[in-house]
Amino acid sequence: MTNFNAVPDRRKNINLTKWTAFPKDVLPMWVADMDFPAPKPVLNALHKRLDHGVFGYEMPGRVLQETVSARMERLYGWKVNPESVLTIPGIVSGFNVAARVFCSPRKGMAIQTPVYNEFHEVKNNAGISQINIPLVKSIKKNILHYEIDWDLFERRVKKAGIFLLCNPHNPLGIIFPRKDLARMAEICIKHKALIVSDEIHSELLLDGNKFAPMAKISREVEKHTITLIAPSKTFNIPGLFCGFAIIPNKELREPFEKEMRNLRLHVASMGLHAANAAFSGKCDGWLRELLAHLTDNRDFLVEYVTKYMPGVRTTKPDATYLGWLDFTQSGLEEPPFEFFKEKARVALSDGKIFGKEGEGHLRINFGTTRSLLQEGLERMKNALDAFYF
Ligand SMILES: Cc1ncc(COP(=O)(O)O)c(C=O)c1O
Repeated sequence: MTNFNAVPDRRKNINLTKWTAFPKDVLPMWVADMDFPAPKPVLNALHKRLDHGVFGYEMPGRVLQETVSARMERLYGWKVNPESVLTIPGIVSGFNVAARVFCSPRKGMAIQTPVYNEFHEVKNNAGISQINIPLVKSIKKNILHYEIDWDLFERRVKKAGIFLLCNPHNPLGIIFPRKDLARMAEICIKHKALIVSDEIHSELLLDGNKFAPMAKISREVEKHTITLIAPSKTFNIPGLFCGFAIIPNKELREPFEKEMRNLRLHVASMGLHAANAAFSGKCDGWLRELLAHLTDNRDFLVEYVTKYMPGVRTTKPDATYLGWLDFTQSGLEEPPFEFFKEKARVALSDGKIFGKEGEGHLRINFGTTRSLLQEGLERMKNALDAFYF
């Protein structure tokens, strides 16, 4: 059994972004990586590669493509030809490449806001327009929910070269149901918008929830979809920068691959070996234990916020280790990010980086030990109590 409540010192001799961006007395609960060491088989693969000692240029190779393809078949019954798997330095590189190739100044990129901050950077990186399709917020039994406005979806997708889907959704934690995926795909195909599906969080499933890739909806959808996956979130190896674009349709794959070559997007040896071990199946026992821990932390978070922070609303994420807190009805007089950083000495992600619908919200990372999660929440509660009373 892995003990996800004991973690190494994340400040010692290392420059981890999460733990060094703020002063030492500020508890970091922001950037999306976890506090846990990677699973043993990944560490063993890295040791083995290190012990070889020769670090000449190394290409991804067929073995890695076959590992990814076998994982897709095992997890989803999705048969992917290994040739369809391209190795990329990360998902962010993947959707930026797709935007450069398949968008134009007139046909931009549609995204469902609030959404992962890097989605908002593509317009400047690729010189294209960004088309926002806000998700519609509601509160049911005190929990935040977000839904698709289908009329708006169709009106906005009409103007897009690409629909960049985030599923499971960061920061909202939604796993879109199959019927929603099918409807999104139908609209995209009708209006000739290519689907780029960022599925980086697809294995971080809470409560034993199930996930199916967008491309698995039908052969027709598969032809119109670029699927982006990586072991980085699931197995906590984002600093090794290795991900995959699965592009079964050759007419999409070839121009994508050409642009990758033009940009010289390579993955370092350690990333390749870690990804191969992570996706091999040997880490799946570790993953099951991780998901039980994350599900418990999610429940703790939801219960804590609901019980001790009146006026604050939270999502109950289906997937990811990210919660989403709404302070718009809390009465706070300053933006919550600044309030909690100054008064509680905790740093969450400021909701406004996910789009203007995120103003007055914070994203909280619960991919940590129970004691750190509890400490962060207690600091927040105490700051709120001091403000109210
Ligand atoms: C939805 C989503 N896509 C992509 C990334 C980052 O991907 P990468 O590090 O592989 O570029 C993140 C990281 O938080 C994310 O949440």
